[in-house]
Amino acid sequence: MKYRLFTLISIILFCTLWHHSKAQYYNDPENHECLKCHSGQAYTFHNELMDLEEKKLMNPYFILDTVALALGVHNLFDCTDCHSYEYVTYPHASNLKLESLITCLDCHGGDESFASYQFEKIEEESQKSIHYQVYGDNFTCSKCHSQHTYAATARTSSDVLEIVDYSNKMCLSCHNNMNKYQLVSGHENPQLIQVHDWLPNQELHFKHVRCIECHTEIVDGLMVSHNIQEKAKAVKNCVECHTTNSRLKSSLYKYQNLQKRSETGIFNAVLSNESYVIGTHQSPFLKLLSIIIFLATLVGVATHTIFRILKK
Ligand code: HEC
Ligand code: HEC
Ligand code: HEC
Ligand code: HEC
Ligand code: HEC
Ligand code: HEC
Ligand code: HEC
Repeated sequence: MKYRLFTLISIILFCTLWHHSKAQYYNDPENHECLKCHSGQAYTFHNELMDLEEKKLMNPYFILDTVALALGVHNLFDCTDCHSYEYVTYPHASNLKLESLITCLDCHGGDESFASYQFEKIEEESQKSIHYQVYGDNFTCSKCHSQHTYAATARTSSDVLEIVDYSNKMCLSCHNNMNKYQLVSGHENPQLIQVHDWLPNQELHFKHVRCIECHTEIVDGLMVSHNIQEKAKAVKNCVECHTTNSRLKSSLYKYQNLQKRSETGIFNAVLSNESYVIGTHQSPFLKLLSIIIFLATLVGVATHTIFRILKK
């Protein structure tokens, strides 16, 4: 009995330590085979032909952010779980460039444990999107989601501004990056500030609402809508958000981690919100009160008039 308890404790201890060490793994690029080279501006290697240590600049697009890696949903993976083991040798074999990488659906499709994310439905919606219509299978999930660093912020964060920032950076990483945009499209990216110049307080809006709020169709039952529609269908009507029945209630503010927001009355709206959207937080009590005051005024004016007429 004692021994069993001891073994159990050791196993738990081992697992915790293992989990911990794996989670910390990426934070220690010095000791990580791949990150020794892939986490900094420059890398060093031994040139066997010349028999000397050489230092070269790393391609900036091949540098990984170790902090974001450690925070990502796949932080328990190691590089060679997804990439070929042949990458341990440097220079990397040239045929590795042709390696086909596993997609999100290859791992997550049909897996019960991830059912709540509805990967299949997300794929279906993505394939309706304008990006997919123009670029087909070349517009992979990875164009927006880095498999290295993706964190499901919309579910895990309780800070609207953080959720908005995370989500918008996924779009801006391409729409505001000439190189990446051209790589996909072959032409220059339209300037977003000009495109949205009809929107007042643009900077403020982009901090408080996600691009997908205006650019996707809201799908019931899906946490994050994935059907990016053509620009003609984008939301331009202020009232869609600036009203009691704001579309934000069924999109940005619907997450359980933000539940306080959707149950807004005017008071907790002010207390719990970083965003106070003009028009959305009408309190039923105040509404009733204003109607009563209005009616009372009418009655007052009417009696006043009647008395004046009677006096004459
Ligand atoms: C000695 C430095 C060094 C080490 C160690 C290293 N890499 Fe690289 N890697 C590079 C450089 C430099 C490139 C840029 C392209 C090239 O020179 O092949 C690169 C490119 C890559 C690419 C992009 C290939 C492409 O062209 O699309 C991948 C993926 C990659 N490495 C994965 C890994 C993995 C996984 C490991 C660990 C098992 C690893 N690398 C270890 C230096 C290194
Ligand atoms: C969960 C799977 C997964 C893991 C784990 C993973 N990668 Fe990747 N990696 C990918 C995919 C998918 C791509 C291609 C991205 C794309 O198509 O834009 C990629 C691309 C790359 C590239 C090319 C640059 C780029 O962003 O396109 C490098 C370099 C790279 N990985 C290095 C690494 C290193 C180093 C590690 C470990 C620290 C690692 N990867 C772990 C899936 C993974
Ligand atoms: C190589 C297989 C593989 C690939 C490719 C892959 N995933 Fe994962 N993913 C996993 C596994 C396994 C876990 C569970 C990791 C854990 O529990 O630590 C996971 C976890 C997740 C989670 C968190 C689930 C949860 O709540 O625990 C999300 C979200 C996710 N992945 C999204 C994606 C997206 C989006 C892509 C494509 C860009 C992708 N994954 C590609 C295997 C994969
Ligand atoms: C045009 C960009 C884009 C593309 C393409 C894209 N996504 Fe997303 N996805 C997003 C954004 C933005 C979010 C919200 C970010 C967050 O989780 O905070 C998101 C969220 C998710 C989530 C988390 C949803 C949840 O319920 O928490 C999953 C899972 C996901 N995407 C899977 C996929 C898969 C699978 C594909 C490919 C079939 C894909 N995405 C393609 C932009 C994109
Ligand atoms: C308040 C709603 C709203 C928000 C938020 C919003 N957009 Fe738009 N966007 C629109 C509307 C409406 C149009 C169409 C404008 C027109 O045609 O005059 C548009 C147009 C566009 C276009 C088409 C450009 C062109 O002319 O080819 C792109 C790309 C775009 N938006 C990307 C984004 C990105 C990325 C974000 C997030 C940083 C974003 N939008 C946030 C409403 C919005
Ligand atoms: C990897 C690059 C990339 C990413 C990431 C990306 N886009 Fe795009 N997007 C494009 C390109 C390229 C086009 C131009 C398509 C075309 O030529 O019609 C485009 C077009 C658009 C359009 C305009 C459609 C039209 O009618 O002209 C909108 C709106 C848009 N994207 C919104 C978004 C949103 C919202 C996100 C994030 C959820 C996002 N994009 C992420 C590359 C990207
Ligand atoms: C996608 C939803 C959405 C749409 C569409 C939208 N807004 Fe907003 N707007 C917001 C949110 C959220 C805020 C809250 C920002 C904050 O917390 O101060 C805001 C803030 C504002 C403010 C700023 C008030 C201040 O505190 O300075 C003004 C003014 C405004 N919107 C006007 C407009 C006008 C005019 C339109 C139409 C052309 C419009 N909005 C369309 C969501 C939206």
